Amino acid sequence: MNTIKAVVFDLYGTLYDVHSVRTLCERLYPARGDAISRMWRQKQLEYTWMRCLMGQYKDFESATVEALRHTCGSLGLALSPAGEASLCNEYLRLAPFADVPQALQRLRAAGLKTAILSNGSRHSIRQVVENSGLTSSFDHLISVDEVRQFKPHPEVYQLALDTLNLDKADILFVSCNSWDATGAKYFGYPVCWINRSGGVFDELGVSPDLVRRDVGDLAARFPVAGALENVS
Ligand code: LAC
Repeated sequence: MNTIKAVVFDLYGTLYDVHSVRTLCERLYPARGDAISRMWRQKQLEYTWMRCLMGQYKDFESATVEALRHTCGSLGLALSPAGEASLCNEYLRLAPFADVPQALQRLRAAGLKTAILSNGSRHSIRQVVENSGLTSSFDHLISVDEVRQFKPHPEVYQLALDTLNLDKADILFVSCNSWDATGAKYFGYPVCWINRSGGVFDELGVSPDLVRRDVGDLAARFPVAGALENVS
């Protein structure tokens, strides 16, 4: 029988809305906010994956600024040093999704440990969490900086095991990014995919153990012992 003792969350897109930067993008570049925000996030992810494959690690803030430069270049938008600084600063002030604060309280009240395992740098993760007032909602903030790789590299998922000192089967890994949920599943964690947008899970050979609409939905219907018993 499986008993989950800790819940480990992805940060960007799962707990915090990466597209909350859209408002400032829109203010600086009227009518282009949505396009910038989307391309920026996609490029940021691509740069982390490419750097991981090439063995050329630079931290997440570097991926964020380099992806922003590429995005503005691609869309034909001028990016001043001040604009660049204020847009990248927005990434440190992302808004948590509305369901998240209460869901974290609920999970912790049920005796579960909570942690973030993110591609963000130590600095980025701490800033985002502090700026949203949620520091006390987590036992651990775990950054890929420790191993200088990015998710979905298996060494990153190992970090949560090492930090929490639990078995894989004791940890529910939660992500809205289906490539991240896939990486965690291959690593051996029970996995919950948060599907806020009614998306389709990636075709990479595994499926999540749970699918929930949002983190509030996960906390409200948290699997009791045995509900994940098909999970090794
Ligand atoms: C993270 C990104 C990948 O928080 O969403 O790790």
